[in-house]
Amino acid sequence: MLRRARNVLDRGVPLKNAALFHELIRKTPVILAPLEDVSDEVFRRLCRKQGATITVTEFVNVEGLLRGCRNAKRKIALADDDNLTAIQIYGSDPTRLAEAARFAESAEPFYLDINCGCWVPKIAGRGAGAGWLRDPLAMVAMAKMVVQSVSVPVTVKTRIGYGPESDMPIVDLARRLEDAGIQALTIHCRTAQMGHSGAADWQWAQRAKEVVKIPVIVNGDVKSADDARRAIDVTGCEGVMVGRRAIEHPWIFREARALLDRGELIAQPTHFERIELCREHLIANAEARGEPYGVRVTRRHLAGYLRGLPGAAILRQRLLIEDSLSTCLTILDDAEMRLRAQSGITDAALAG
Ligand SMILES: Cc1cc2nc3c(=O)[nH]c(=O)nc-3n(C[C@H](O)[C@H](O)[C@H](O)COP(=O)(O)O)c2cc1C
Repeated sequence: MLRRARNVLDRGVPLKNAALFHELIRKTPVILAPLEDVSDEVFRRLCRKQGATITVTEFVNVEGLLRGCRNAKRKIALADDDNLTAIQIYGSDPTRLAEAARFAESAEPFYLDINCGCWVPKIAGRGAGAGWLRDPLAMVAMAKMVVQSVSVPVTVKTRIGYGPESDMPIVDLARRLEDAGIQALTIHCRTAQMGHSGAADWQWAQRAKEVVKIPVIVNGDVKSADDARRAIDVTGCEGVMVGRRAIEHPWIFREARALLDRGELIAQPTHFERIELCREHLIANAEARGEPYGVRVTRRHLAGYLRGLPGAAILRQRLLIEDSLSTCLTILDDAEMRLRAQSGITDAALAG
């Protein structure tokens, strides 16, 4: 809390943040994607611990934010250790986006990101998210308005086009968005019409990167450290953003960092680390959201965390119907004990 309180008084901070932004965004960042109902305070912390360079909040609806809606306020509330967290906003009205950006700026995000990539019909169909791709010039004018409304860096996350254009607008759009003053561009290398299906085509990020000086972050289908390395090599982009793989395997951040920074392919997490991450995430979510909600929202991660563990299927079945934190912890303790017995590992060996 103190750090944030001090920052409000210290007028030099936005500038310092901007300098740090420019430094980090060019150092092959591995960024946790904005993920609705996933990239909350607890999960961002967990991913940072594994090596995520930057994290992004879930997208926040500008109307909800400006009305003071509780969920929107929760989404933009940043913890003390969220100093490298960006807030993502979405909406269809440039003036409201600019107003919401000013409001979100007061939460002291590392930077502000505008969502121009959400394909979901109820959002894109109303002109927000990927709906902006139907009118790229309007997107550029909106981005310019937001940039001029705040003093933190503004970035845009979008897709290669709406679909099914014969030639994707992203290359020309990247140039225009750069002129509008955005500080970085994240490209999810699918069209809006593809949703999450089909393969991401990283070549579009490469083409866009060739025509701009601002950092470009490539997103879509980065599922391993090797993918992260290849995405950067193929596109020449400054960094990568990881979405779905992080939900089930947050260790991807340390694996990608080891490969990008030291050329090292590191081992997969041990069975014990897998169990420990389940515990850590369940406890943190129960503390943050209470029971049973905190336990329930952790479920979507557990199957991935436990993958490859002997008896994982049964363990998963037992955990995924439990609402109580203490019962979940007992199930995990039992699993760990069985594992130790099977592998002949004693408490003493683990301790020393
Ligand atoms: C559950 C879920 C929630 C998402 N929420 C958001 C969001 O709030 N804002 C956004 O820009 N993209 C959102 N996305 C898209 C991701 O940020 C990312 O662009 C997409 O999943 C492609 O990356 P990936 O192949 O690494 O998953 C979401 C995706 C998923 C699967």
